[in-house]
Amino acid sequence: MIQMKVISKRFGQINPLSIDSYIKAEGYEALKKAVAMHPSKIIDEIEISKIRGRGGAGFPAYIKLRALSNETGNKYIVCNADEGEPGNFKDRMIMENDPHAILEGMVIMAYATGSTQGYIYIRGEYQNAMNIFKKTIKAAEECGYLGKNILDKGFDFNVEVRSGAGSYVCGEEFSMIESIEGKPGRSRTKPPFPTEKGIHNRPTLINNVETFANFPHIVLNGGKKFAEIGTPSSTGTKLISLSGNVKNKGLYEVPFGTSIRDVIFKLGKGLENNRSIKMVQLGGASGPIIPEYMLDMSIDFDRFENFDSKTGTGAIIVIDDRFDIFDILLINMKFFVHQSCGKCTPCREGHVQIVNLLNKFISHRATEKDLMSLENLAYVIQQTSLCGLGQTSMTSIISSLRYFRDDYFAKVRY
Ligand SMILES: Cc1cc2nc3c(=O)[nH]c(=O)nc-3n(C[C@H](O)[C@H](O)[C@H](O)COP(=O)(O)O)c2cc1C
Ligand code: SF4
Repeated sequence: MIQMKVISKRFGQINPLSIDSYIKAEGYEALKKAVAMHPSKIIDEIEISKIRGRGGAGFPAYIKLRALSNETGNKYIVCNADEGEPGNFKDRMIMENDPHAILEGMVIMAYATGSTQGYIYIRGEYQNAMNIFKKTIKAAEECGYLGKNILDKGFDFNVEVRSGAGSYVCGEEFSMIESIEGKPGRSRTKPPFPTEKGIHNRPTLINNVETFANFPHIVLNGGKKFAEIGTPSSTGTKLISLSGNVKNKGLYEVPFGTSIRDVIFKLGKGLENNRSIKMVQLGGASGPIIPEYMLDMSIDFDRFENFDSKTGTGAIIVIDDRFDIFDILLINMKFFVHQSCGKCTPCREGHVQIVNLLNKFISHRATEKDLMSLENLAYVIQQTSLCGLGQTSMTSIISSLRYFRDDYFAKVRY
């Protein structure tokens, strides 16, 4: 069995617009269990589960939860549904197929941390998900799972839908906080982290859609059971957005530890027209590009850490042998030129220079000195940019220089 349905188990089985349909499928049982527990015990279960955030970086969820619960006064919970990373569509699928699971996860964590206000920040292009989620909130309020005096337990929690306007950087937590506050989406320097000073300088928890959707499952079945799925360092399952030149593109849920090759060949049924793989990009535009011989690598946060990127989002983009690495790198880098917010110089100017250098390779005008400049500049952008956009945007360049260096030499003018 390659697929394992935990997050996607209700997909296609329930009517996402009907709260009754969700309730009949164990919906809100985890919340009922949670409100009978001491809040700190809920966070203990999350720690035992060893779940790591599904937004990309794989940060242990319990650390942020405990930090928030230790704060007093007004606190905020934010669900990051911006999903701007090209190649990813898993969060949209959860919102469109099982929206109450996300909301239930948010309410449980509001109770666990003592937070009273929540936001779900949905990518502007996701109009359908936005409409569904507004109805989800209304239905949950009417049934007493959200709003004032939830389940008669004397705690209040409200959720509002907020939306970005297509800016990729608004998925980055501080840019999102600024945007929720009504300002242009631009990052702030860290520390302080959002759990100390987030929305209106108050402690704020930000987690990804898939992370929130996992919480009810953990509370209902216990952290220990969850930790038995996957690998010791990456527990649970992962939703994979499989796209590119593969026959069966789509969303798959697999336990961590599954190999990339199995996802492409067993679930994706291999490449179209019997072509061969030139490269695979993991995570999205800010993820690494790897060659075919690395496909036996398992899907695991620790394995992906070597790449210093948001590989953990779970996107796998297959690119066949009709393409050149420069085709893909140029698309990625033009994307970052467009998405840079312009606040810091390495990112604002650096991406433009990277595009210029790539164009020199493409037109066979590059020299060995240009190769050195490209490599140096990529590390400068990675190490000196203010926020995660510039800190991860060079992953495809750096990985291609490592695994496809001969492709660069083939274009150098001697
Ligand atoms: C440029 C940029 C874009 C990001 N976009 C998203 C996004 O669309 N969705 C998301 O969940 N996290 C995104 N992140 C990561 C968030 O900043 C944050 O780490 C994440 O939402 C935390 O949730 P998690 O702990 O559940 O993974 C982005 C980060 C950067 C630097
Ligand atoms: S790294 Fe880029 S997106 Fe981030 S603050 Fe600097 S200019 Fe803006």
